[in-house]
Amino acid sequence: MDVFNKCTVNLGPLGIYADQAEGYFMFPKLEGEIGNKMIFKGKERLIWSLNNYLGLANHPEVRKADADGAAKYGMAYPMGARMMSGQTNFHQQLERELADYVGRESAYLLNYGYQGMVSIIDNMVDRKDVIVYDSEAHACILDGMRLHIGKRFVYPHNNMESLEKQLQRATKMTEETGGGILVITEGVYGMSGDLGNLKAIVALKEKYNFRLLVDDAHGFGTMGPTGAGTDEHFGVRKDVDLYFGTFAKSMAGIGGFIAGPKQVIKYLMYNMRSQIFAKSLPMPMVIGALKRLELIRTQPIHREKLWIIVNALQKGLTDAGLNIGNTESPVTPVMLYGGVGEATQITFDLRENYNIFCSIVTYPVVPKGVILLRLIPTAAHTLDDVAYTIKAFKEVKEKLEQNKYPTSMADIGGL
Ligand SMILES: Cc1ncc(COP(=O)(O)O)c(C=O)c1O
Repeated sequence: MDVFNKCTVNLGPLGIYADQAEGYFMFPKLEGEIGNKMIFKGKERLIWSLNNYLGLANHPEVRKADADGAAKYGMAYPMGARMMSGQTNFHQQLERELADYVGRESAYLLNYGYQGMVSIIDNMVDRKDVIVYDSEAHACILDGMRLHIGKRFVYPHNNMESLEKQLQRATKMTEETGGGILVITEGVYGMSGDLGNLKAIVALKEKYNFRLLVDDAHGFGTMGPTGAGTDEHFGVRKDVDLYFGTFAKSMAGIGGFIAGPKQVIKYLMYNMRSQIFAKSLPMPMVIGALKRLELIRTQPIHREKLWIIVNALQKGLTDAGLNIGNTESPVTPVMLYGGVGEATQITFDLRENYNIFCSIVTYPVVPKGVILLRLIPTAAHTLDDVAYTIKAFKEVKEKLEQNKYPTSMADIGGL
């Protein structure tokens, strides 16, 4: 049997829609300057699907820092992995500043959040240890756990009773194996926008012995009085043992970091395979990240603008009768009810007739029958954008209730 055979038989749960959806619903091209309005299929659209939370992607100082970094060092420098030949003062400076910002002893850079998280989990546990994790954990957490040869116990999303039960099981097991327990949650859940119940999780530390790793990809820069994250928001920083952030969202860049106690970060530096066996972050990324961090720390206006847009959007949608679930973060899901056919029709209507571009999520990512339209408000949006979008969503909901959207994907013309 040829290993390539599977590629023609079945493209997978998303790939089965490739023929109808590629270039439009999947792999769409957004062109022009990153901002609230961009070009999609030759027309200007209002964009609600970029994690450019603080609007920094196109901030003139950020663009200048990126360009200066590239002009001075090029994309190649430094060559090699950090440990071998890729260490620089700028990488170390960024780590010190990140650690300081999130209130930890040390931090270490990751080339991508995703592979960094996989590697962190791989290193923090061995066969004697048990991982306890939230059922809605991001793919990078799930993939990190695939490398774990010990036990793992899942609890239903934010269900603290179940978490406690899993901690009891894990405690019993580790008493036998002589291992420890690592609990993993997200700070902000990127689909639903609700927060990991960090207060309740850390309260369990009084009864159970475990370490807590928080993936705060969406909370870094957006949550907490200084934007330093969801643990700052809840006031539980000292009980979050390892704090993970990515540069892909608020920082509008690429890369990420892990922060925590000095000795643990040192251990990760010397063991994380994703960093030891991969090239260091290019210098322009690091110089650009230093500038972004400086703006986040010294100019709260970006976060304030973001929250003005978030609050107006979420209140407006709720007042208009739309269901935005339990979000407490900028991530704004709008839940409608229907099948994949209706979901694609709605997205098409929003894009073509209202010039609104947002992401659409359907089964199997959300339960059957739920259509989740995900809006990501940013500091780059305006209150006019918000008002226009609320009106559009209200109309779309009414049309859906009046069965105006055909249920078959085949009815979408002219893609
Ligand atoms: C919760 C969460 N963790 C990790 C990542 C991965 O980060 P990166 O894009 O830096 O690989 C993402 C998405 O980007 C995410 O949403």
